[in-house]
Amino acid sequence: MSNIKSILVTGSNGQLGQSLKSIAAEYPEYQFHFVTRDELDLGDIENISTYFQKNRFDLIINCAAYTAVDKAEQETQLADAINHLAVKKIAEIAKEYDTVLIHFSTDYVFDGTSHKPYVETDPISPQSSYGASKLKGEQALQGVMPRGCIIRTSWVYSEFGSNFVKTMLKLGQERTALAVIFDQIGSPTYAKDLAQAIMQIVANNRMQNQAEFPIYHYSNEGVCSWYDFAKAIFEINHINCVVSPIETKDYPTPAKRPHYSLLNKAKIKHDYDLSIPYWKDSLKRCLKKL
Ligand SMILES: NC(=O)c1ccc[n+]([C@@H]2O[C@H](COP(=O)([O-])OP(=O)(O)OC[C@H]3O[C@@H](n4cnc5c(N)ncnc54)[C@H](OP(=O)(O)O)[C@@H]3O)[C@@H](O)[C@H]2O)c1
Repeated sequence: MSNIKSILVTGSNGQLGQSLKSIAAEYPEYQFHFVTRDELDLGDIENISTYFQKNRFDLIINCAAYTAVDKAEQETQLADAINHLAVKKIAEIAKEYDTVLIHFSTDYVFDGTSHKPYVETDPISPQSSYGASKLKGEQALQGVMPRGCIIRTSWVYSEFGSNFVKTMLKLGQERTALAVIFDQIGSPTYAKDLAQAIMQIVANNRMQNQAEFPIYHYSNEGVCSWYDFAKAIFEINHINCVVSPIETKDYPTPAKRPHYSLLNKAKIKHDYDLSIPYWKDSLKRCLKKL
């Protein structure tokens, strides 16, 4: 049995935050506190300290992040403030108050030149400001070393917020044809599956007792390109929109994205006895909610 009782979820208006909220009732043994940016703004370090002087928890699940990948190329300082400096502060607070901390990072810490799924110890080399800010957050956490873990995930979607699935559904209604990138390969992550995995991790005593701050990889099982992902969305929802494959070079974006960002999930599956759903099965479950 876990000795965690009270759980703070930051960034509770985000995809992962809302997914955790949507399953919280299944875990009545925990007291959840969901906070939005209005209640806990991570852009202000002083504000973070003040908040935790007044509020204590057994576990912090830090779902808040600066996630505007392209905008981050311009807003470098803001991305760094949320994804690095605030994370360092939260880590220091977690260490001081002996609070467990679960934090999230991204496949974008890798350069995408691999041809086999990335393991946690593979060399990192972010290609974008967003990826660099998330990496600095990881490194700050590992420097401070509270109890807990970092979960790197990829291509997150859900029925909440904005994401690729919702964008495709909208475009699929508006257009008869669409060109989607086929030379970026990865694995989608249904935020609800990740939320459920997090709760399985929380229920396990491992985090409370370990002497390291490990990194884990989590996404759904299987592989696809954005093109395959779009095709699957339209097929499942019977949307009559023709999808054609294009190369990344024909769809320039401010931020460079890895061509290959598959995450090897063997470690998290082994340590927490997780069974991870296949991406298309999860996609079907999500689409039913949209
Ligand atoms: N989305 C992906 O494809 C993806 C891929 C790999 C890794 N990840 C990582 O997974 C985690 C969860 O991502 P997600 O998809 O749930 O992100 P999301 O939907 O963009 O949610 C992020 C949340 O952080 C909040 N936030 C932003 N700035 C803040 C601030 N200054 N103070 C407090 N809260 C702030 C946002 O608040 P508002 O609602 O007010 O804007 C939002 O609710 C993040 O660590 C992200 O880096 C995501």
